[in-house]
Amino acid sequence: MYTRYAILAFASLFTVNAQSLLPPSLSYNLIVSHIGHDFLANYSWETTDDPTNGRVDYVDKATALKDNLTFVSDRKFVMRADSTKKVAKSDRGRASVRIHSLEAYDDALFVLDISHMPEGCATWPAWWTLSANGPWPHGGEIDVIEGVNLGPRNLASLHTTSDCIMPKVRTQKGSTSSTSCDTSVNDNQGCGVSFPEQDSYGAGFNAMGGGIYIMEKSSTKGISVWFIPRDSLLLLGGEPLLDLVLLSTPDAYFPTNENCDYSKHFDAHNIVFDQTFCGDWAGSESVWNVSTCAAKAPTCQSFVDNNPHEFADAYWEINSLRIYQPLGLLR
Ligand SMILES: *[C@@H]1O[C@H](CO)[C@@H](O)[C@H](O)[C@H]1NC(C)=O
Ligand SMILES: *[C@@H]1O[C@H](CO)[C@@H](O)[C@H](O)[C@H]1NC(C)=O
Ligand SMILES: *[C@@H]1O[C@H](CO)[C@@H](O)[C@H](O)[C@H]1NC(C)=O
Repeated sequence: MYTRYAILAFASLFTVNAQSLLPPSLSYNLIVSHIGHDFLANYSWETTDDPTNGRVDYVDKATALKDNLTFVSDRKFVMRADSTKKVAKSDRGRASVRIHSLEAYDDALFVLDISHMPEGCATWPAWWTLSANGPWPHGGEIDVIEGVNLGPRNLASLHTTSDCIMPKVRTQKGSTSSTSCDTSVNDNQGCGVSFPEQDSYGAGFNAMGGGIYIMEKSSTKGISVWFIPRDSLLLLGGEPLLDLVLLSTPDAYFPTNENCDYSKHFDAHNIVFDQTFCGDWAGSESVWNVSTCAAKAPTCQSFVDNNPHEFADAYWEINSLRIYQPLGLLR
């Protein structure tokens, strides 16, 4: 352990001085960085109806760029909801963006640095991964960032075929909200873990300039998710110290175990970013009616349709997505 730290400390100092390299990792190798224009080259814009029944109109890439619902610079990638137009009853919904990576990844470490995520009533954004082979839920779904309406906490969850149960108690900072990952039970709630940090999601997250989410997808360990606030000591010069992160307790941990064999439920995944409105979660009466959003409109759909300006903060602003593979598993 001492040796690991010593090497890390030395390497980190070197990196800071060199100022152009990321802090290195002893167990993972950087294989790709998606920054700014890379998103245009490496993702497809999906325009199908939202499978979760949201009041959303996912637009194609050309429309998204023309209407500035997708914006790129050398350093930023922004995806937003339309915040200028009312939605007519006959329309599909509020214009928004859903993108899907062209590449799929087996064992990997995904490091997402974001300065803003969609916030506000009716919003339901998600950053997640999904089996490239499917059909869903074969090959699994991993929801890394997800929440609705004015919620302050992130929920990470898995959705799988049958026979995938997580232990109630495991080494993680978050609290287990459900243990069955099987999509056919509990109305496809999945096995979720609610994060302890009040600023892991929504307005609180945005107020501090966001932070970094890391998801490890490992056939030997299972799936882990860490949330690292912008001001964390696990960052050096703004970059995560990956080896220290990997040694720290994750916010959510979904171990491969005797009641959920990773290899039976997960394969290579594509990466998805989306933002829907209302739908099966944010818009369900049992959720909308008890949120403070209900004071603004009787139903989620009427809120979305009639209040475009309420969606000014409904955007993702991504600094980078870096993807690493375990050393020794390089293609
Ligand atoms: C991503 O896009 C860049 C161009 O911006 C390209 O060079 C790279 O090969 C692409 N591939 C992957 C897997 O990210
Ligand atoms: C498009 O969106 C970007 C990012 O939010 C913003 O900086 C820019 O001013 C917008 N452009 C126009 C023409 O509205
Ligand atoms: C939710 O609120 C709407 C509008 O006030 C009402 O019509 C509906 O019955 C409520 N549903 C539940 C489950 O409370």
